[in-house]
Parts: sequence; C-alpha cells; structure tokens
Amino acid sequence: MVYRSWAEIYKDRLIQNTESIYKFVKKDIFAVVKADAYGHGSVEISKILEKIPYVKKLCVATAIEGKELKENKINKEILVLGGILKDEVEYFNTYNLQPVISDFEQLYLVKELKNRSIHLKFDTGMNRLGFYDDDIAQIIKFLKENRINLEGVMSHFPSADIDPDFTLYQIKRFKNIINIFEKEGFKLKYKHIQNSAGLVYRCDYCNAVRVGITLYGEKPFPHFPVDIKTVMSVKAKLISIKKLKKGDKVSYGGTFTADKDMKIGVVSFGYADGLPRELSNKGYFLINGKKVKILGNVTMDMTIVDLSQVEELNIGDEVLVVGKNGEFEITFSDVANICNTIPYEIMCRISKRVQRIIL
Ligand SMILES: Cc1ncc(COP(=O)(O)O)c(C=O)c1O
Repeated sequence: MVYRSWAEIYKDRLIQNTESIYKFVKKDIFAVVKADAYGHGSVEISKILEKIPYVKKLCVATAIEGKELKENKINKEILVLGGILKDEVEYFNTYNLQPVISDFEQLYLVKELKNRSIHLKFDTGMNRLGFYDDDIAQIIKFLKENRINLEGVMSHFPSADIDPDFTLYQIKRFKNIINIFEKEGFKLKYKHIQNSAGLVYRCDYCNAVRVGITLYGEKPFPHFPVDIKTVMSVKAKLISIKKLKKGDKVSYGGTFTADKDMKIGVVSFGYADGLPRELSNKGYFLINGKKVKILGNVTMDMTIVDLSQVEELNIGDEVLVVGKNGEFEITFSDVANICNTIPYEIMCRISKRVQRIIL
C-alpha cells in the first residue's frame, strides 16, 4: 500500500453501534456527522448511515458541511445545528438544508428560505446557542405570521456525563418549553435533547436523539451501558530503524537522552497527521502487539519510538497509533487522557493526509 498513514473505518461496527443505540433508546436517530464525521469522513459515513431507516437526519454544524454531503449525493435530510447566517441563505436554498434556529437574527432569515421548515433550539442552561423560555411568545407570533413549519424543538446537554442533577433540571425545563408549544397547537414532529451521554436519562416526551461519539464507538463515560465498538483504527508505517548510543539526544530540542544503547524507529505519523504534540515523551504506539514509547518531541511528519523490546522488524511494518493489536489497545480516550483533553478532539484532529479506508 502506498499510503504512509491511514485510518481503517469498520463499516460493520458503525452499523452495529447505531443498532445498539437504537435498541437501547428506542427513538429516532439523528446521526451527528459534523466535523467530517468526527474525523471519520462525513461523506462515506453518511453513505452508510443514510441507508438505515431509523436514522432520520444527518446533523452537520454549518451550511458548507451540508453542501459537501449534498454534492456527494447524500439524500437524507440534513439538519444544520449551527443555524444560519445571512451569507449562507443561498446554500440553504440550493442544497435544501434545514436550519436549527437559535436567535431572532436567524429566525428573521427564515423568511428568505424556499423551504420554511425549521427546528428551534432552546438554551436550558448551557449558555451557548439557543432562545430562552421568555422568547417563546414572540417566536410563536413570528412563526404564525410567516407560515413557518416548526418541525422540531431541541435543546442540548453540556454535562450529562458528569452532572445528573443539572441534566434532570434541563429535562424538566425543556419539557415546559415543549408543553407551551403543544398547548399553542403546534404538532411537533421531533423533540430532542439527548446526546450520547444523555442516552441514559429517561426523557419520554422526546422522540429523537442526536448522537455522535457513540456512533463512532467511544463511550461518553466509563460505565456507559450500551455495547459499542471503536469504528476507526489509525495506522502508519515504520520508515526507518536505527541505533542510539548512550547519551544521544532525540528529535527537535533534544528532550530525550538515551541512558543506554538503544534501538529506535521512525514512524511516518506526526502532528500534521493529527498526533498531539503533547504526546512527546509521554505517548506510545503498538508494533507487533508490543507497546513502544514515543521518544523526544513529535515532529510534523514523523515520530520516533523505542524499539528496544521489539524483534523482527522491517521497514514498512504497520504501526498502530489508535487501535487494538494482541493484548494491547490504544483508544482515543487513552490518547486524550495523556493529553488532558477529550476523545472528540483527538478524533477530529486526524488530518486529511491520513487516508480513510472503509472496510
Ligand atoms: C448540538 C449537538 N447535538 C448533539 C451532539 C452530539 O454529541 P455526542 O457526540 O456527545 O453524542 C453535538 C456534539 O457536539 C452537538 O453539538
């Protein structure tokens, strides 16, 4: 294979994860494929997911992301979570995208849409995007006056993985919002607040969930009760093997010094491929089922590892950056923990240069 770094995407695991989530929650699924499907490749992932009947929508962050899907012949309905800006109206009309509307500026733009069908977003405590409860009267007046179809109402959980009390408060607050719309005669097709971590909360008045990270097989918290499997393995080639003498320094800045003679290797995967530089002298890869430590600073295209414990190696051998080999596994969460971040960020960082291969 000519690629020096690649990501294997296991289609069957993506489908199984989606099915497991559906069986667990028994609600329609809005598959979150924004940010290039969390680094997995949004077009290919959407092609797989759009065939599943209970996946009702694909969620992107921006109109440009929606455009990419439509230009690649994705037919499923596309919901743009990040809403609409004036400059984007044309894209919404050309590609028949549906916006999530979260403030009055955006709501007034809906008059310029050919298809006046929207979801409204309410802020129930995250304080990012969303209307507040006391905006409702003004919103309803505008919707009625301008014959806008309110297909759905949504909110979002910021802390479902760590703060049950706050999440339950949000569920209650969101229910009041839904009640007001329903009392006013709105027949809402979709009501949705749950993300992956939120799947474990009872929220019977909602009928859809917006899930991302769990589709891709990463648990939002350690004892997450749904059986899901990592969808992407990240791999690279070993491109050089050499010897270090005691006292030699490694890589930019010479932050590693050998305390004995060593065998080292150069792996064709660096921060331009998405490997966090924070892994310098801290992270590890897997080669031939063995853990190999990263030595010195991660560089743009290459990373140096300690091969002292690995025998029978050849140039071109496969190195696992994320994935399972033998008794060891490196997950996105493992990498994230070392870097003091979240698996979402590590997934999204896997760059374009890393060829996605659907298996
Ligand atoms: C508005 C919204 N809904 C749902 C999701 C999906 O979240 P998760 O990947 O945790 O399931 C996101 C992700 O960031 C989001 O921003």
